[in-house]
Amino acid sequence: MDKNGSSTIRFAGGEQIPVELHKVRIVQKLHLKPVEERLEAIEKGGYNTFLLNTQDIFLDMLTDSGTNAMSDNQVSSMLHADDAYSGSQSFYRMEAALKEVFGKKYILPAHQGRAAENIISKIFVKPGDVIPTNYHFTTTMAHIEINGGKVLEIYGEEAVKIKSNHPFKGNIDVDKLRAVIDEYGAEKIGFIRFEASTNLIGGQPFSLANMREVRKIADEHGLMIVLDASLIGENAWFIKQREEEYENVHIKDILLEMCGLSELVYFSSRKVTSTRGGGICTDSEDIYMKLRDLVPLYEGFLTYGGMSVREIEAMAVGLYETTDETVISQSPAFIKYAVEQLDKAGIPVVTPAGALGCHLDAMGFLPHVRQEEYPAGALAAALFIVSGCRGMERGTVSSVRDEDGNDILADMELLRLAFPRRVFTLSQTLFLLDRVKWLYANRELVGGLKFVEEPPVLRFFMGRLAPVSDWPQKLAAKFREDFGDSL
Ligand code: F0G
Repeated sequence: MDKNGSSTIRFAGGEQIPVELHKVRIVQKLHLKPVEERLEAIEKGGYNTFLLNTQDIFLDMLTDSGTNAMSDNQVSSMLHADDAYSGSQSFYRMEAALKEVFGKKYILPAHQGRAAENIISKIFVKPGDVIPTNYHFTTTMAHIEINGGKVLEIYGEEAVKIKSNHPFKGNIDVDKLRAVIDEYGAEKIGFIRFEASTNLIGGQPFSLANMREVRKIADEHGLMIVLDASLIGENAWFIKQREEEYENVHIKDILLEMCGLSELVYFSSRKVTSTRGGGICTDSEDIYMKLRDLVPLYEGFLTYGGMSVREIEAMAVGLYETTDETVISQSPAFIKYAVEQLDKAGIPVVTPAGALGCHLDAMGFLPHVRQEEYPAGALAAALFIVSGCRGMERGTVSSVRDEDGNDILADMELLRLAFPRRVFTLSQTLFLLDRVKWLYANRELVGGLKFVEEPPVLRFFMGRLAPVSDWPQKLAAKFREDFGDSL
């Protein structure tokens, strides 16, 4: 289905591999520690990979958020940042870049994506409102709920299937959207939310055909479309790869079309531009005026919004680079390679390959671990023990409890192995794949987890867990037996 990415090369024998279209000029030393020390580290971190210390990690695949590699042009731009509380030239350069890349007139800065979500939800979510979306993101849902709203996921049938060849699992199901409008009435719908490269279902894109259809329905009912553009570059790349009429369209124009179909676009710049920060853009003066006064209250003055001017400079350059197809295709090319290799080896992994990372299906990987004992969390801990690679649990640990205190079981139990843009090499990827395969062969050694300390909100960040048996010790011992002196 996918055509070759520009970050993929073909060997003479026909094999295709991802290729690094950049040279490495600044490096950071990594450590691969012995399995016994990795076991100790995960115990100390409450079997929660968020609580690990990077000195114990070999490949940090927790996220691409704030961890993509910056370009030489981004780093050098930071040297001519204009320090000023208000009126900084750095902000105006970033504003110009956003206008060009997202095509929106008004820009509000925010210190990161969830800060934009806070401001948007405070203004556009009223108690009793519903927010239909292709899928929730953790922080988005928390902000919508804190303001009295409810998220309604209106994805298509294929979206939460692990194995699929649907090119656009991130599409909104338009029949479900119509049903939501009939049931609640347009006045109860704060906005319709599209998330580019839908994060929690495996970085899956939506198509422009789908967005246009949703736009039509929104217009019929006077509804606003809000686009979470945190992974917009990759979604645009997949549209170019998978949506026939865009085959020869540059992603720069695809980005503009996606933004043009939305009244409001917000983003985490930690993802889009490999820097920090975030922002909100719109063409509507009315929307801008409604949101504007919350920026100095929560973020900072309108020309910095909680970011340093150096970050703002690098963000401007990063935004232009978001339209560079060789930059944007990097991470998808590595993810595609990893997914295809694992799939070939019979390891359950979300297909088709999407953006952000390779997503292992923990329920398929560990069918003997009940969902109540957090298979994705257990798999994250187990993979760290056997490889030093840190992934992120995206399953029931990342979910919430209902009013009776029972876990709301996640639709999917995923272990996300993020491929931050231009960070890891092919040999590091091969190492990861080898250790995942070894773990799969020894999967019956992995057991479940239970919470021992559980924060009430966004528990996955700081929560501490413990294994339900001594399975981590047994797993580490088997690793030592098989690998001998090797790490
Ligand atoms: N929206 C999406 C789709 C995201 O993926 C994220 C962050 C946010 C909003 C919030 O942005 O972190 O800048 O406040 N995703 C990160 C991740 C944390 O690891 O997937 P933020």
